[in-house]
Amino acid sequence: MEKQIEQIKESALAAIHESKNLVELDSIRVKFLGKKSELASISKNMGKLSAEDRPRLGKINHDARVEIESALDKKKIELQSLELDQKLKTESIDVTLPGRRNIRGHLHPITLTLDRIKKIFLNMGYSIEEGPEIETDYFNFEALNLPKDHPARDMQDSFYITEEILMRTQTSPVQARTMQAHSNNEPIKMIAPGRVYRRDDYDASHSPMFTQVEGLVIDRGIRFSDLKGTLETFLKQTFGSKAKIRLRPSFFPFTEPSTEVDVSCVMCHGNGCSVCKGSGWLEILGAGMVHPHVLEMSGYDPKIVSGFAFGLGVERIAMLTYGIDDLRLFYDNDVRFLKQF
Ligand code: DAH
Repeated sequence: MEKQIEQIKESALAAIHESKNLVELDSIRVKFLGKKSELASISKNMGKLSAEDRPRLGKINHDARVEIESALDKKKIELQSLELDQKLKTESIDVTLPGRRNIRGHLHPITLTLDRIKKIFLNMGYSIEEGPEIETDYFNFEALNLPKDHPARDMQDSFYITEEILMRTQTSPVQARTMQAHSNNEPIKMIAPGRVYRRDDYDASHSPMFTQVEGLVIDRGIRFSDLKGTLETFLKQTFGSKAKIRLRPSFFPFTEPSTEVDVSCVMCHGNGCSVCKGSGWLEILGAGMVHPHVLEMSGYDPKIVSGFAFGLGVERIAMLTYGIDDLRLFYDNDVRFLKQF
């Protein structure tokens, strides 16, 4: 029996020595030390031995087991570090590879243009006001001196939701809303940017939705020259210090007198080109002195205060700034277009 144990130990140590990986090592452990191993059955049969052989052979058996166990442990550590080394070799990371770029979004050209416009007016001390895009007929038209049967309503073909509610056709209703939020002829100096809606074709120069900025200044002694100076400052900051402005008499129901404002063509600087259709001028916005009736309807006294107002199209300014010839590019959301800004 002593010899048998010695042989088992030797073949176990040899197998451990030869084993190539942890899986194999584990099966060696089961084979030589498991419940069904030879050493286990020898232990079971110890009881059959004589009282004098039992302690001696028991000790030999136990020592063989301890020796095999410690060989297994040693080999296990050896194989583990070997496998780790191999893993590091085959799965190594090339830290010199350039990183993957994150795709970042950015602001839309209309937002960029709007931000520049807002900044110019904020610097002149204006506040920024907002109004709803779903508006009442009263604020969109009536409070702006356009009663129900007024022919000028035809200039703005509207999307009505009910007879009294519509998609606002202009940002001008924010004028009346802001005036009505004040009292005692308090001065107002505000712009109101936002989307407006009109039943219109969808082509290179028309869209049923577009963006406007409304302006309103009310105070004692506001004159037409204040309007002209303000718009000149705004247009020079937008199109450069060489930009000239030209005023042409016009009509808006909410201003009297009213004017159409042109800027010298930003492409040809007034010489005449295809953008300005040879005239040297570009029509850029509408403006005028707030009609006394409009002041009165929203609680201001035209004998005490006066004011000016203007309304401009943001898409038009963006098209001129960036040299864009088709309005639809702003709304199609084609990344090839958008990523240029
Ligand atoms: N609301 C006008 C439009 O959409 C633009 C406009 C013209 C606004 C003159 C004004 C103004 O405040 O005084 O056509």
